[in-house]
Amino acid sequence: MYSIETRCIHGEKHNNPDQNYSISFPIYQTASFSHLTPGHNPTGFDYSRESNPTRRYLEETMSSLEGANDTIAYASGMAAISAFFEYFSPGDHILCGEDLYGGVVRLIELVCKKNRYEVEYVDTTDINAIEKNIKSNTKAIYFETPTNPMMKETNIPEVAKIASKYNVLVAVDNTFMTPYFRNPIKDGADIVLHSGTKYISGHNDTVCGFLCCKTKELSDRFRLLSKTTGATLGPFECWLVLRGLKTLAVRMDRHSSNAREIKAWLEKRDDVDNVFYAGSGMISFYVNSADKALSILKNIKLITFAESLGGTESLLTYPVVQTHPDVPVEQREKIGINDRLLRLSVGLEAPSDLIDDLEKAFNV
Ligand SMILES: Cc1ncc(COP(=O)(O)O)c(C=O)c1O
Repeated sequence: MYSIETRCIHGEKHNNPDQNYSISFPIYQTASFSHLTPGHNPTGFDYSRESNPTRRYLEETMSSLEGANDTIAYASGMAAISAFFEYFSPGDHILCGEDLYGGVVRLIELVCKKNRYEVEYVDTTDINAIEKNIKSNTKAIYFETPTNPMMKETNIPEVAKIASKYNVLVAVDNTFMTPYFRNPIKDGADIVLHSGTKYISGHNDTVCGFLCCKTKELSDRFRLLSKTTGATLGPFECWLVLRGLKTLAVRMDRHSSNAREIKAWLEKRDDVDNVFYAGSGMISFYVNSADKALSILKNIKLITFAESLGGTESLLTYPVVQTHPDVPVEQREKIGINDRLLRLSVGLEAPSDLIDDLEKAFNV
């Protein structure tokens, strides 16, 4: 098998003659596919909600990168995560990391409650806490590592060891690390989720999500769910993601080397209290007052005050207002999201220009 850098570019089907040897995989911008006679469909494609060649190629590429048996491409990261939470039945119990993207907490608290399963939050960095909270009806452990925005890391192989003892699924949101830095399935996870909106597509121009499955049993169930509920990714977006993926390896190297320079600069400042960094291009930090945080957001010029992350452009986010307003205040404070916390997605600009922009905004 080729190395990951090569598979980002060529997928698994280098020079496929079915595509007239085109270098770039074609966009099959069609809703439907013709059948020759009833029951005779030589390509296997029927209708693009269910499957489409451009989406299939992207899904195969993602499966290759994540070491998955199968992957489903969704219209957003939240659509993929919603599909995951559709998997469970009334009476089930799911353990979730206590520090999650705010949209996932909103999904659990405001949408999933009607499904009458129990969701409990636990600090997944504490393996003993996980084991203590597993019950006879626990079906899954779901977490981000590193977490958004506090960058806390969970040890996937240790969680997987406990989960297999109790026959519990392990689902990991790998958005921040990407398959370039980490393969949760190789570490023992059963399901990997992505907001592909972020590093996977990489250019702040596409919203998409992925659910990667270790086994056919899991992917059969999720394929039935995605075909039925219908939030699959359109062909043009699939093509944009395929194009973005080609540079994943070089982008991730540069995102992280830029981030390390900025982390070192932040750590030297008296007006920065803590810096949280776990690899990739994401940094969170506390400044010494809420007024300081607001002033920085107002005065950055090259870096943009915006939600989202993982793209070529550097974005500075205020989690308390933008990504986590729907997380109950006590939960937010417990995990450390307050009005002094800023989250920086370090883009691919020259690090000296980024530091210059921060320096000016900090020193107003
Ligand atoms: C870690 C993480 N997972 C999932 C999501 C949701 O993805 P999307 O915005 O593509 O729906 C986000 C969004 O910011 C995220 O940061």
